[in-house]
Amino acid sequence: MPLVPMRALLDHAAANDYGIAGLNVNNMEQIQAIMMAAAEIDSPVIVQASRGARKYSNDAYLRHLMLAAVELNPSLPICMHQDHGNSAETCFSAIEQGFTSVMMDGSLSEDGKVPSTYDYNVQVTRKVVGQAHAVGVSVEGEVGALGGIEDGHGAGLSQAEAMAHLTDPDQAEQFVADTGVDALAVAIGTSHGAYKFSHKPTGDVLKMDLIEEIHRRLPNTHLVMHGSSSVPQELQDVINAFGGAIKQTYGVPVEEIQRGIKNGVRKVNVDTDSRLAMTGAIRKVLAESPGKFDPRDYLGPARDALTLLVAQKMRDLGTAGHAGEFAQKTLEDMKAFYQRKGLV
Ligand code: G3H
Ligand code: 13P
Ligand code: ZN
Repeated sequence: MPLVPMRALLDHAAANDYGIAGLNVNNMEQIQAIMMAAAEIDSPVIVQASRGARKYSNDAYLRHLMLAAVELNPSLPICMHQDHGNSAETCFSAIEQGFTSVMMDGSLSEDGKVPSTYDYNVQVTRKVVGQAHAVGVSVEGEVGALGGIEDGHGAGLSQAEAMAHLTDPDQAEQFVADTGVDALAVAIGTSHGAYKFSHKPTGDVLKMDLIEEIHRRLPNTHLVMHGSSSVPQELQDVINAFGGAIKQTYGVPVEEIQRGIKNGVRKVNVDTDSRLAMTGAIRKVLAESPGKFDPRDYLGPARDALTLLVAQKMRDLGTAGHAGEFAQKTLEDMKAFYQRKGLV
């Protein structure tokens, strides 16, 4: 089936109580690994590319790699999503490139660093929703800004700023009403990257209760957890055993993600764990076999390590086994859906 809009996938996940990982990619091996895992355990897929990923891989390469993924996996529902669009133009260019879903991250200004105002966020997100829905493309928005509560890392916030930029449930409710987004990313104390928490997170730094409250207020909105790599100890250990220098760190425990899924979380963004899995495998090959220099000798094991990781995520989030149930939904179907609902 052609690439599917994210809204259709998340609606199915909500109706069947599971979550889907939003998996960042930059190259062919990552796309192959995700597709191999999904094919093996019959999972719907959300592949996502950041602005940096689009620049690194080039839109044309990325588009054709995704078309290959679709061609080779005709029975799997696959969505291609713009991660952290910093402007309406970024989202529109993604739509032109065939992405079936975009994130307009208006929680930050266009520089992607400084927290913006609520009014700016609404204005830019509405603009994207209007044009995206007119062609059936889904939109994720964000209220609050990511940043670890312990020391503010993430969007470069101070600890106090990170606390002040957690998602406010009143504002989340208002934002969904004001913009008509399909999915809402919330700031609950997670941050991007490996260094999220200095100990296994407790409720004071990872505010799952905030997710519960937002879900109570917005039971029909699909919630998104960013910065949700679990940073598994074993992946840190492999890297460090083969010459790496990852300082001891903690991510978002799987059981907290599962608690989120019980409370409206339908998309769980993961990039760091994929990076760790691939880097550990590459370090191992190069350390154990210093004579090797064929990229296939290390990119192959990196791809295998990522396939294992992704398959485990799909099982942990309850995604596995649901691809076959998915009734195909096209951009045209979603366009008609938004028109019926008066959303465009
Ligand atoms: O949003 C964060 C993702 O991990 C993407 O990271 O901007 O380095 O590609 P990136
Ligand atoms: P991690 O850094 O925890 O993998 O988060 C990725 C993310 O949120 C991408 O948008
Ligand atoms: Zn993110």
